[in-house]
Amino acid sequence: MFQNRRTVFLFVCSLVFVQALYYIATLQIKRNEPTIVNPTSLLILTSIYNKSSDNHLSSVQQNQVYSSNDNSTQTNHTVDISFITTAHNFTFANSPLNITVNQTIATTISTTAIYNTTAHPITIPIPFLNASSFSSFNYFKSPPDIYNSLPICNFSISNNDTSIYKVTINQTINSYNVIEENHGKDLYSGGHFIPTGCQTEQRLALIICYRNREQHLKLFLANIHPFLQKQKLDYTIFIVNQHGNDPFNRAALFNVGYIEAMKLYSFDCFIFHDVDLLPEDLRNVYKCGGQPRHMSVAVDKFNYKLLYSTLFGGVTAFNLTDFIGANGYPTVYWGWGGEDDDMYLRVVKKLKKSITRYPIEIARYKMIRTHDHTSSKANPNRHSILYSKYDYSRDGINTTHYNLHNIVFYKLFTLINVTLPEEPFEKIRTRLNMKRKA
Ligand code: BGC
Repeated sequence: MFQNRRTVFLFVCSLVFVQALYYIATLQIKRNEPTIVNPTSLLILTSIYNKSSDNHLSSVQQNQVYSSNDNSTQTNHTVDISFITTAHNFTFANSPLNITVNQTIATTISTTAIYNTTAHPITIPIPFLNASSFSSFNYFKSPPDIYNSLPICNFSISNNDTSIYKVTINQTINSYNVIEENHGKDLYSGGHFIPTGCQTEQRLALIICYRNREQHLKLFLANIHPFLQKQKLDYTIFIVNQHGNDPFNRAALFNVGYIEAMKLYSFDCFIFHDVDLLPEDLRNVYKCGGQPRHMSVAVDKFNYKLLYSTLFGGVTAFNLTDFIGANGYPTVYWGWGGEDDDMYLRVVKKLKKSITRYPIEIARYKMIRTHDHTSSKANPNRHSILYSKYDYSRDGINTTHYNLHNIVFYKLFTLINVTLPEEPFEKIRTRLNMKRKA
């Protein structure tokens, strides 16, 4: 009996001991588990970088949302959004998200917002302050039977009184709100316009390379929209914005614009444009022809003279076939200079075509001067690459590498935010099989 009681006692003790061990062990495991705020929640950590009243483009520095967990039923996402200047309303997954930043200047995490979603990874468009943005790109056209019965859109340039074609350039820098009010009424999201009452023969993607030149951009938008609308064109404006600290790569940004635009719509005409150039004559029609066209022939800065006969910088127009045939722009020119001369050689040597130009009295441009811009440093390697006679199939559209952060459809334009990883010159030399100087 005693023996039995002792056995029962020992048995109970060991049960309690095992239970206690189990309890301690599970407590430990629980402690190591990540805290899940909500099974399907997105935790947004916002860091404030700088504060400026109208510095819109710097507010879209890093805005990809990264998932910390691959299991979509148990998602605890975090995102680090730098360069936010003040309160923002985000819209994604068609739901509004409000982030209010209380501190005006801070360098660390200042705001936490919880947003319910199951989708990931998610890209949050961070709107420009006071600029309208949309969650999608709508390429509305009337039903084909109605559209195809319309007359072809025609902008006549044959009036003998040529003064009617002269463009008065508006040099007032307004807020995006005001530009939208003045020129956005007939636009579809993403800066897309379709003339009414007629059908267009081409779909133009106007691609602008960009970095931190907001005053230029505002003047550009305020002037180019009315210009293109008067010419009755089906057009969309793409701003390809290079983030990060790598040197500016104008030509690679053009390729990015081309690649991303083609994912959205079947464009057949591409005009590659500097943001500081504004056309001064309406007869300079933004259409593509059977040859690549150099548009910015006569620029006020150069006394309306063509600097040299093979100049192909500023503004160029390519039909789809020609741009593909040239393998697009080169990607190996980091910093100022050379990429446009390279493109000229591609047209002549790879495409085996010549460039064309409108007459010098028509292809006139004003170069906008503002105080917020300093030019990029000249690329010391540009001549070596340009004169190396490399094979253009080795570099171009097919080798355009970029990190796409997001695409935001604003009222006045489509913004493509990218970083471009700089390729060191030694690698470029090897990849292009460039000959070393003897
Ligand atoms: C550069 C071009 C530039 C031209 C006019 C040339 O030396 O290589 O990129 O467009 O000068 O400034």
